[in-house]
Amino acid sequence: MSTIKSFDPELLETRDVHKLLSSSIAPRPIAFASTIDAKGNVNLSPFSFFNVFSTNPPILIFSPARRVRDNTTKHTLQNAEETKEVVINIVDFLMVDQMSQSSNEYAKGVNEFIETGLTEVPSLKVKPPRVLESPVSFECVVDNIISLGEHGGAGQLVIAKVVHIHVKSDLLDINDQIDPVKLDLVARLGGDWYTRVTKDSMFKLAKPKG
Ligand SMILES: Cc1cc2nc3c(=O)[nH]c(=O)nc-3n(C[C@H](O)[C@H](O)[C@H](O)COP(=O)(O)O)c2cc1C
Repeated sequence: MSTIKSFDPELLETRDVHKLLSSSIAPRPIAFASTIDAKGNVNLSPFSFFNVFSTNPPILIFSPARRVRDNTTKHTLQNAEETKEVVINIVDFLMVDQMSQSSNEYAKGVNEFIETGLTEVPSLKVKPPRVLESPVSFECVVDNIISLGEHGGAGQLVIAKVVHIHVKSDLLDINDQIDPVKLDLVARLGGDWYTRVTKDSMFKLAKPKG
């Protein structure tokens, strides 16, 4: 029988808490967030502390945390605070290298679309552009930002309301439902690990009767 090792997060280094959390709370979807600052500079960065939390209204939440290293904030958070808009693009397997490259710590004002070679497409209802290569993109307005703390590692929840949705038409069936095999999603695990959603890695489970 396997034994259990227990940890009190208060007694661990923040980095070690991060490793235990991010390896176990997985796979996590990736929000590839496009934002602009007050001067109109475009930014594009990935965030896997991300999910959907409401359908009506449609709400997505992601968390650009304060850096553990020096407690600075991410440009994405600064832009979301300044201009209150974000486009959350979904990441498929074809885009993983560019998505990873965009997570480099570029200087403020550097446009990661240009650095990665991804293509900007103007949005319909918000100012940040969407990613042409993404299978699905959500134009959002920022409803609220909730700070979970002031120290390095503290999540900053960007609560984003979806105002427009773009889906590549070849992913949709005749009822406008997304085919999960064609979507070819990727998700983040702990450390440098990712996973790819393929036909072999999926299974169906019918809802329980009654
Ligand atoms: C797949 C992936 C997921 C990431 N998820 C997060 C996250 O949830 N929160 C976070 O603060 N940083 C996350 N990062 C790191 C940021 O992308 C990175 O700090 C980036 O430089 C932030 O850019 P910005 O300062 O232009 O916003 C992630 C990186 C990758 C590659």
